Amino acid sequence: MKLLVTGGAGFIGSNFVLYMLKQHPEYKMVNVDALTYAGNLENLKSVECHPNHTFVKADITDTKAMDELIGQDVDIVVNFAAESHVDRSILEPDIFVKTNVLGTQVLLDAAKKHGVKKFVQVSTDEVYGTLGETGLFTEETPLAPNSPYSASKAGGDLLVRAYHETFGLPVIITRCSNNYGPYQFPEKLIPLMISKALSDAPLPVYGDGLNIRDWLYVEDHCSAIDLVIHQGRDGEVYNIGGNNERTNLHIVRTILEQLGKPESLIKHVEDRPGHDRRYGIDPTKTMKELGWKPKHSFESGIKETIRWYLDNKEWWTQIQTGAYQEYYAKQYGNRL
Ligand code: NAD
Ligand code: DAU
Repeated sequence: MKLLVTGGAGFIGSNFVLYMLKQHPEYKMVNVDALTYAGNLENLKSVECHPNHTFVKADITDTKAMDELIGQDVDIVVNFAAESHVDRSILEPDIFVKTNVLGTQVLLDAAKKHGVKKFVQVSTDEVYGTLGETGLFTEETPLAPNSPYSASKAGGDLLVRAYHETFGLPVIITRCSNNYGPYQFPEKLIPLMISKALSDAPLPVYGDGLNIRDWLYVEDHCSAIDLVIHQGRDGEVYNIGGNNERTNLHIVRTILEQLGKPESLIKHVEDRPGHDRRYGIDPTKTMKELGWKPKHSFESGIKETIRWYLDNKEWWTQIQTGAYQEYYAKQYGNRL
């Protein structure tokens, strides 16, 4: 079995590559990543010399490169590559459309041309928009994206669907809730707040901090995708989530408490424009049909994650230089 994984130097992609090489050491993994600000080869250090892992630096919008790579007997494409941060999509939407929409279409064309056996599109619950106080997102919930990021992911998903309907390409779309765990770039809520708390800097909480996200430990997302690859039905959507809804304030207070830092570090700042109020995933279909179950409770997962950031300070301090500082100033400069 030969897999082409895109975005495998990013947060979830690298966790997936490490997970799959452990679960299926005999599979050949071609890991394609453009190494944007979010891609980091440090994440893959432990498999640098693995005989079945090959890293290729390439852009998924590069038609020739994708054609050549997928043309080399690839059985399955798993597309993680994306611009993934909502705040950056508000500052600069164009790159989100390029990578998340055009990049997906380039991959779909190459997959169609070379007859891949499965194309797995790793998508997000954000394509469903926002929930009120009750209810959950199911696979039938209409798409109603509210940010340029989620709109570009929805655009990618619709192309994936269209390649199935029009050309019969064997595709599957997964839609997962918020992930957390090792190797997450410190622009996202949990690693950002851990890093700020450790430096006794203000923790910027958007608005009233009562927005709700549904958290899943990254390894549980990887195990679900593994099952989707092997047992998922073509043309289907699978929602992935662990029923762990928490307010942002709850997350931030948990981090402060576990690090022994004071709540006075919390700073409420101007809200994110178009800020979705609540996400909550109904994972019943994935659980029933594929027998998937998350292994980590939120309480154990957050402890492990905080431990990882304490033990790997060098990994995230190396990132927080140059371009990161520029982004931080642009995003938070007039908020903090
Ligand atoms: P990330 O930003 O950490 O990683 C994205 C990776 O894609 C990086 O390694 C980057 O270098 C690479 N990349 C970006 N543009 C590329 C291009 N044009 N060509 C090749 N590689 C490119 O993102 P993540 O959090 O790991 O998310 C991975 C995927 O999972 C995304 O598709 C995202 O939409 C989806 N997702 C994320 C979450 C979450 O909570 N993080 C939840 C559900 C779904
Ligand atoms: O739901 C899945 C999505 O989760 C993925 O598709 C995205 O790729 C991923 O980035 C994530 O999107 P969110 O916008 O939910 O994640 P983020 O970590 O940016 O923010 C989580 C919540 O915390 C959100 O309500 C905004 C809030 N927040 C975030 C930051 C960065 C703050 O209050 N302050 C901050 O500084």
